[in-house]
Amino acid sequence: MSAAKKNAAIGALKFIEDGMVVGLGSGTTTGHFTRLLGEKMKKERISVVGVPTSYDSEMQAKKAGIPLIGLEREVDVAIDGADLIKDGYVLKGGGGALTREKVVDYAAEKFIVIADEGKIGNGKTYPVVVEVVPFARESVARALEKMGFEPELRVGGKKLGPVVTDNGNFLLDCTGKIPKDAARLERELNSIPGVVENGIFSRYFKIVIGNEKGSYEL
Ligand code: 5RP
Repeated sequence: MSAAKKNAAIGALKFIEDGMVVGLGSGTTTGHFTRLLGEKMKKERISVVGVPTSYDSEMQAKKAGIPLIGLEREVDVAIDGADLIKDGYVLKGGGGALTREKVVDYAAEKFIVIADEGKIGNGKTYPVVVEVVPFARESVARALEKMGFEPELRVGGKKLGPVVTDNGNFLLDCTGKIPKDAARLERELNSIPGVVENGIFSRYFKIVIGNEKGSYEL
């Protein structure tokens, strides 16, 4: 699987040019991309600045030698991973970085999703991850239940209690049916007071899929 993730990352490198501002997603697939981008910058003597989408991606970028900025400049291209690829949208948030990811990915002129072939979701399901202001967790959960979802508060693996995101919020992993018009649900979820962002990403430029042999684009 890691060759597939790396090949997806390699497939996205060709979109990067000298002088670009590049959004750096979070996760293992984008971890490959960030490392390879650092190598490309040294080898080809090109200059690129990154916009990290989490503390984790910030640390990975620093390790790769990529200078970082915030959102003070336009983002040319954002490269980010996915948990599940469906027809017309992707689901994200497995790493809990969905809010800053969506801010950076949607601010970019081109948002490119990179993923291994196993993420293509014919018949597969993945929860819709919803980041909530801690105070609103119960009212948001009730609103989600009324919409037909089963929300579950994400709890830590090596910490007691809820996972606290990089933005100081909680996460609800919501099992349920996503309608054909996923973009509409994406907007509706964000209209619930207390919801910060959700893991449906319906706006992207391209998806680069990696497998053991190489990569291809959807
Ligand atoms: C983090 C994400 C990641 O992009 C997603 O979880 C994919 O991760 P990986 O590349 O490790 O499979 O949405 O919030």
